[in-house]
Amino acid sequence: VTAMKIAVLGTGPVGQAIAGRLAELGHDVTVGTRDPEATRTRTDDSGTATYAAWQQDHPAVALATFEDAARGADLVVNAAGGNVSLDILDQAGDEHLADKVLLDISNPLDHSQGFPPRLFVKDDDSLAEMIQRAHPRARVVKALNTLTSSLMVHPETLGEETTVFVSGDDAGAKATVVGLLGELGHTDVIDLGDLSTARGAEMWLPFWIRIAMALGGSDFNIKVVRGAGVVNDR
Ligand SMILES: NC(=O)c1ccc[n+]([C@@H]2O[C@H](COP(=O)([O-])OP(=O)(O)OC[C@H]3O[C@@H](n4cnc5c(N)ncnc54)[C@H](OP(=O)(O)O)[C@@H]3O)[C@@H](O)[C@H]2O)c1
Repeated sequence: VTAMKIAVLGTGPVGQAIAGRLAELGHDVTVGTRDPEATRTRTDDSGTATYAAWQQDHPAVALATFEDAARGADLVVNAAGGNVSLDILDQAGDEHLADKVLLDISNPLDHSQGFPPRLFVKDDDSLAEMIQRAHPRARVVKALNTLTSSLMVHPETLGEETTVFVSGDDAGAKATVVGLLGELGHTDVIDLGDLSTARGAEMWLPFWIRIAMALGGSDFNIKVVRGAGVVNDR
């Protein structure tokens, strides 16, 4: 494993899971947030551990502004809410995203009309493509948005191999992300194709939410079982 300098933009469950695991795996990880001091002292009523409590368990992970985190990174992860992703990537700075792999985990959920959330983009566009258009020099790869944060980093807890997906226009960037996914324990990765294929991965979310409601939990994932008629092995 070659250690990379990774910026994880987002302090929520996804940011914590990804940052914590990548640091355990030996990467040099900085989490990005709007206001580091506010994040350090924040008390949380959402049921998620406060950042300070999480930080105590992950002393190697640095905390910085979105911009400072992105500036120092080789690879940037978007782990922010979908509705704020374009905003926080602007804060990170277009020049600090240029030529870097941008792993986009966000989902375009619109919670403004209550539960279940709607998608604010779908079918003929995706949040991943919106991010790519806003930052043409970033090498955007969509991945990991299809499963819950704990399973992103510990898929083995399901007890059998399950499937994750990558979408992106840059083959080298996708290869880098597939490598990281392997480090996280994902052994079945389907390369869907160019970044427009992120539309399908993002449109999975409404179905994911209904399955989670039916099962009473988020501890599940897709497993794509191939029959003999399938031509490609991934
Ligand atoms: N939760 C999951 O299991 C899961 C699974 C798959 C995909 N996803 C997707 O992954 C992304 C992250 O999800 P999450 O649940 O970890 O985090 P989240 O709570 O949706 O997002 C947290 C981040 O959003 C930032 N943020 C919130 N409001 C903001 C605003 N007005 N302006 C700028 N930044 C703002 C926060 O910044 P501060 O740090 O400054 O507070 C924080 O870093 C989402 O797009 C979600 O749909 C989540």
